[in-house]
Amino acid sequence: MNTGSYETDELLHQYLLFHYGEAGDQLPWAFGPRTALGFPARCVDEGVDLERVPRNGRALDVGCAVGRSSFELARIFAGVIGIDYSATFVRAATTIATEGSLAYQLKETGTITRDLVAQRPPNGGGKVSFEKGDAQELRADLGTFDCVLAANLLCRLARPDRLLSRLPDLVKPGGQLIITTPNTWLESFTAREFWIGATPETGEPLEALKDRLQEHFQLDRTWDLPFLIREHRRKYQWSVAQGSRWIRKD
Ligand SMILES: C[S@@+](CC[C@H](N)C(=O)[O-])C[C@H]1O[C@@H](n2cnc3c(N)ncnc32)[C@H](O)[C@@H]1O
Repeated sequence: MNTGSYETDELLHQYLLFHYGEAGDQLPWAFGPRTALGFPARCVDEGVDLERVPRNGRALDVGCAVGRSSFELARIFAGVIGIDYSATFVRAATTIATEGSLAYQLKETGTITRDLVAQRPPNGGGKVSFEKGDAQELRADLGTFDCVLAANLLCRLARPDRLLSRLPDLVKPGGQLIITTPNTWLESFTAREFWIGATPETGEPLEALKDRLQEHFQLDRTWDLPFLIREHRRKYQWSVAQGSRWIRKD
């Protein structure tokens, strides 16, 4: 499986732009899909039900990449842990947390680049920490959370079922689970027998997810989240993630 694929400099710079880039740098075309910008912040703004957030709440951002949604969660929660399997991404997120910024390059075309700086967003006071970990085997002493976010992670795991079966232990009763996924199921990441839906036999991914989660979670809402990843000035990936918010049953 493709476990090392998020360790390259190219993806690091692409994700720093995706998470921290100014709109005009991410998409310098006035006619481009601007509603797809700001995805890591929208996962939190559109995903978290503020009425369910307790005082001194804790949040987990699993598959946090270079950390933007973890900082956004820290506007709302007193403590946030961001976990990712990529040592390169975790190092970058930690530098942004501790030093406030990190230099990176925007790819224009070929080997022509422009220097940019990723800035830590104001986090409202919540404490954020990042660590390397495997979403399929999260450490036993992580504790429980008022909110768990898994953004665009499921279809990058070899065994998404292992994360799904751990979630009831991680989310406190009444707490919220936010999943976004573009359902880009590929055998290079996940053997077909472990896909969550997405075949004629197993049906629509959301229905398959409901089958897996409904014993412990109530589906609260679903919505669509466009997002844009810039490869270079003239090439982009435009995708639409399916967002779902689930409430942990008592
Ligand atoms: C498509 S990216 C999404 C990142 C981020 N949540 C976002 O929405 O921008 C998938 C992320 O999952 C991470 N990842 C892949 N396999 C993982 C695993 N087994 N455990 C934790 N993170 C993993 C990758 O390193 C990458 O940062």
